[in-house]
Amino acid sequence: MLSRIAQRIVRKAAVPRTSIITRPFSAVTSRPQDLVKAEKVPIVTFTGGERQSSELTVGKTSGPVNPPGADEHKAAVAFDSSLLPRLTPTMAKFTLPGKVAVVTGAGRGLGFNMAQAMAEVSVRGIAIMDVQQQLGEKAAKELSEETGVDARFYMVDVRDGNSIIRAVNDIVGHYGTIDVLINSAGIADSNIPAETYDTEMFRRLIDINITGTFLVSQAVGKHMISAGHGGSIVNIASMSGSVVNYPQEQCCYNTSKAGVVMLTKSLAAEWAKHNIRVNAISPGYMDTALNRVPALDAQKKIWIEQTPQKRLGAVDDLNNLAVYLASDASSYMTGNNCTIDGGYTLW
Ligand SMILES: NC(=O)c1ccc[n+]([C@@H]2O[C@H](COP(=O)([O-])OP(=O)(O)OC[C@H]3O[C@@H](n4cnc5c(N)ncnc54)[C@H](O)[C@@H]3O)[C@@H](O)[C@H]2O)c1
Repeated sequence: MLSRIAQRIVRKAAVPRTSIITRPFSAVTSRPQDLVKAEKVPIVTFTGGERQSSELTVGKTSGPVNPPGADEHKAAVAFDSSLLPRLTPTMAKFTLPGKVAVVTGAGRGLGFNMAQAMAEVSVRGIAIMDVQQQLGEKAAKELSEETGVDARFYMVDVRDGNSIIRAVNDIVGHYGTIDVLINSAGIADSNIPAETYDTEMFRRLIDINITGTFLVSQAVGKHMISAGHGGSIVNIASMSGSVVNYPQEQCCYNTSKAGVVMLTKSLAAEWAKHNIRVNAISPGYMDTALNRVPALDAQKKIWIEQTPQKRLGAVDDLNNLAVYLASDASSYMTGNNCTIDGGYTLW
């Protein structure tokens, strides 16, 4: 009888390697940018679909940002608040009436889809923090127009502590509170052997994925502690924080997501006394712009082959878990790392 690890190795080895030999993988990096340390944080707000812009003064320097990615925007549907009194107690716990959510990285992809889910369960306000102005503004506009929610966009690099603090203060000033934080901003580098990994690239990824998650959690957590009404923080980690992906070499990304999982547990333990819950979602391979690059086409076939459900995750496949973790439906759950991977980590 083979051990589970041995079974996994045999199974991985059984994957046909032809595509790998005939089409060598190139390194894939999602590089948003040098650190955008902004002197001003542009804010674009939408109320009833009407645009207003302003800015916060912060510190120094700015750098280039990513070009816009694939258009993944599907229309969200407004919550009908007349339903609230008619919901059963169980259903009611899955709603967030009157709550305010901050979602980082919600300019596109999983973050944007989770922001849509927050709107669909009746939050009254959503603040997006993203480094890409064009995407973030479009996302806030769509949320506002489609659901009537008061949506604000803050162009913030999650590595820029001062900008984050200013943005959080402004969000609290505008809405009066923050109840939910979803940390979805993140980048990935892939197909880079450890022995040739550029040190600066390594540092940059760790800085965005771990330090960025920490800085936003710290700023929002401080507010939640002083407000005294608790809150829920949801960190988007990855199955790569628990298993080493195959066949691509990506030691830095894997390490960063393991860090996000441990940060989640540590904050959960520290902040439980403040009634702040902190949980993580660890997605498997998802069909987002992060993975929609030609250099990954051959690998995607292997990922799907190795996934019991035989598909990549859809961009909205995290939404309902995000609602569960953000809401009172999960009121006795903290420090958990929830995997959504089509069964990938089973084998
Ligand atoms: N797509 C997947 O297969 C997958 C799997 C597991 C985990 N994840 C994680 O889920 C999260 C979202 O991934 P996605 O697929 O939606 O990616 P995405 O690239 O589509 O979206 C990420 C968003 O984060 C923003 N962002 C990047 N760096 C930033 C920074 N320094 N400051 C502020 N915003 C920044 C980007 O502008 C973008 O809007 C990431 O943390 C990623 O690591 C993704």
